[in-house]
Amino acid sequence: MYKLMSILVVLTIGFLYTGCKGQEGPTESRQETEIEEEKSEGVVSEIEEKIEKMHEEQAEEEAVKAPLGIAADLWKLIQTENYRERWKMWPDKEALYEGTPPHGASLTTYVNSIGYDAVVKKENQLPPGTIIVTENYMPDHTLEAISVMYNLADFDPLQGNWFWVKYDTDGNPMRMESDGKTITLAGKLTSCIACHTASTSGIQFIMTAPE
Ligand code: HEC
Repeated sequence: MYKLMSILVVLTIGFLYTGCKGQEGPTESRQETEIEEEKSEGVVSEIEEKIEKMHEEQAEEEAVKAPLGIAADLWKLIQTENYRERWKMWPDKEALYEGTPPHGASLTTYVNSIGYDAVVKKENQLPPGTIIVTENYMPDHTLEAISVMYNLADFDPLQGNWFWVKYDTDGNPMRMESDGKTITLAGKLTSCIACHTASTSGIQFIMTAPE
């Protein structure tokens, strides 16, 4: 907001300045007027550049905010779909199979019908619209978190288009401290990607091989 105001002030001053110059006596030579015009054009293009930069910064902020919106919609979607009742569990995995850090002692994994056949066939890339929900349980079988991978067309083409999110049990994306910064666990998450990239399951970014 301050940036916008200061740009408006610069604009106003700029226009007043060129306006005043234009009203100077008729004695002023044509050459001088042209020089002044060039100068004011310089000011205007500088302002245009600033405005463009401001838009870019705003767009970046939106891009940062967007994952939270996607995460909220995705949570609603999996609840409406009633994934526990209507989706299949991961091929050959039952409820509460043994897990490894960071996902917890026991896991239950569901996959929606869009992705299920591709998982069974071990297709290298799972189709857009695939959603995998992994419930992360503590050793006493209390639900601790829900890790979800959602394949979203064009979301992240260089890394398989996966949207990554780790929810708490109320459906809010969890937060993590890293290098003194707080990261919300939703979006293109380097930490999830770094580990899942090393997958040897035959399906890109998928750790659990369908047997
Ligand atoms: C340190 C490595 C590591 C990190 C970091 C990691 N995962 Fe995983 N993930 C695994 C492993 C290993 C499995 C297989 C199950 C198991 O052994 O726990 C897995 C399984 C999954 C699955 C089930 C599908 C599959 O690939 O097998 C989902 C969904 C998932 N992770 C989501 C996430 C999300 C979301 C994040 C980031 C918030 C994340 N993971 C971060 C290692 C990791």
